[in-house]
Amino acid sequence: MGYFKEINLNNYRNFENFFLEFRGGCNVILGQNGSGKTNVLESLSLLEKGRGFRKEKIENLINFNNKNKDFKIFSLFNNQNINYNISAFSLNRNKKKIAVNDNSDLNSIKHFESLFSIIYFLPEMERLFISSPSFRRNFLDRLIFNFNKEYNIIVNKYKKAITERQLLLKDQKYDENWIQNIENNIAEYGSTIYKNREEHINVLNKTLKTINSSKHFSKDFILKIQDNFYESNKQIDENKNIYVSQLYLNRKKDFFQGGCSIGPHRSDIIGLNELNNFNLNQLSTGQQKTVVLLIILAQSEYLINELNLHPIILLDEICSHLDDSNRELLLYLTNQLKAQVFMTGTEKNFFSFLSTKAHYCNIT
Ligand SMILES: Nc1ncnc2c1ncn2[C@@H]1O[C@H](COP(=O)(O)OP(=O)(O)OP(=O)(O)O)[C@@H](O)[C@H]1O
Ligand SMILES: [Mg+2]
Repeated sequence: MGYFKEINLNNYRNFENFFLEFRGGCNVILGQNGSGKTNVLESLSLLEKGRGFRKEKIENLINFNNKNKDFKIFSLFNNQNINYNISAFSLNRNKKKIAVNDNSDLNSIKHFESLFSIIYFLPEMERLFISSPSFRRNFLDRLIFNFNKEYNIIVNKYKKAITERQLLLKDQKYDENWIQNIENNIAEYGSTIYKNREEHINVLNKTLKTINSSKHFSKDFILKIQDNFYESNKQIDENKNIYVSQLYLNRKKDFFQGGCSIGPHRSDIIGLNELNNFNLNQLSTGQQKTVVLLIILAQSEYLINELNLHPIILLDEICSHLDDSNRELLLYLTNQLKAQVFMTGTEKNFFSFLSTKAHYCNIT
């Protein structure tokens, strides 16, 4: 099982130069409000492709007191007794780079990426089912990215094609071949996104059923994609003509309304109670937190058992208003999974339910 052994933060966020050691199992980061706990978790998320879990601009990652110097995050990652030196750093204060054993070439990075995958829970995710559809879409897309590192590229290409079409329609005197080409691309990427989301929703629903844990928390809910266009054309990944001709027919409407009226950017992901079909957004806040934790658990089990990919699980402020069953769920997540887990909190006694093996790091 791969795990991060240590982290060294240089000119990053509120840290000038900061070092922490971790263990393979459960790590609890303790500190007062504003001490930098979330920043430490974020630094781990930056060791993956992308802008980290806050999707932050580079300039905000650099310590405000020393804006002219780049930030650097160094870490040691251990996988089957092999150590990898990993670093994430800004270049000329505007681009983030990753290097593995001082090497930035694509193959070393791809190899490193294949050793682990980062799953995170942030406080705002408690509100998953009452947030916006785009929040839920991003949540699901992020889970797909965990094991399909090319997926984000497709999503970005899709978004770009949608914007391009919108600009052309606005222009009115567009070249027919050009717009056709863009609409073909939209259908291509759009159906790939639909297909990936559908497949992963099925995986999660299936895995949720098999979670081997106490009966204290109910698992009788299912996740579902809500999308009128997709629901009536589930075969669009095989027959893209339907998709393309629908885009063609919608041109006028899309010109007047702006945007694109069909496609995965309009889907919602909903959770339904299986017994009475009520929407999970009707659950209490604590119950919704359970559901999100269960999804994270199902995702982790899928990565470990089916893909042999070890997750690094970042749980920020997870211990606020936890009841016994949520605590039990967390205990299961930290004890039973072959995964390195990080949790943050302001006081050690919030974590007294954890096993004595948990490693505590105090950052104040
Ligand atoms: N680029 C930066 N340079 C310097 N300080 C920064 C930068 N970005 C954020 N900070 C500061 O880092 C501090 C720690 O932030 P962080 O969110 O990690 O705290 P925390 O320990 O998670 O607090 P809480 O318990 O309230 O969640 C904040 O005071 C924030 O203003
Ligand atoms: Mg925080």
